[in-house]
Amino acid sequence: MILSPSILAADFGILAEQIKKVENAGAQWLHIDVMDGQFVPNISFAMPVIESIRKYSDMFFDVHLMITEPERYINEFIKSGADGVTFHIEATKNPLKCIQLIRNAGKRVGISIKPDTDVDVIEEYLDKVDMVLVMTVEPGYGGQKYLNRMNGKIRYIREKMGKDFDIEVDGGIDGTTIGIALEAGANIIVAGTAVFNEDIEGSVKELLR
Ligand code: DX5
Ligand code: ZN
Repeated sequence: MILSPSILAADFGILAEQIKKVENAGAQWLHIDVMDGQFVPNISFAMPVIESIRKYSDMFFDVHLMITEPERYINEFIKSGADGVTFHIEATKNPLKCIQLIRNAGKRVGISIKPDTDVDVIEEYLDKVDMVLVMTVEPGYGGQKYLNRMNGKIRYIREKMGKDFDIEVDGGIDGTTIGIALEAGANIIVAGTAVFNEDIEGSVKELLR
């Protein structure tokens, strides 16, 4: 299992320090949520922030693009320091182009579906990507409740793609729901509010147990 703490829930005033903490506690990836105020109602941050934190961390930068027409910016995000880029199938008319841009740069390709998007929609891309990100909350905000009805999607993808494929879950992960997601077949776990609290190191270790 890989833990990918989401910095959306971090204190941006001391971001580099907080990233060091999750890294020291054993988290392998860093989840970076980019929101454009259009694909999702919220706005977060983008390239300049990624470029800055890149100087302080060698962790795998797991960039989750919640932006409309991601193909416009994929190269920029890669330049800023992304190791993997995940885009939403609902955000683009040209998923193959997105896949190609990420692949051509030698980075890991992720494709994501929102809770109300059927898994059928990404079926034809499954053998072209490294990872599926199954959203277990409506994208846009941290601190929401894990949607149990997503477990079926995770199970379906795991069954279809076999044990070596990466399935990431994002939203509502805590000490309880992590077990549910893993049991359904997820192997990469995003957690925001469950990690960035008063005891960052303790929370990371707890989730990794
Ligand atoms: C939601 C983001 C998530 C979010 C998860 O749109 O994609 O990564 O930060 O936050 P928690 O873990 O608090 O549900
Ligand atoms: Zn995310």
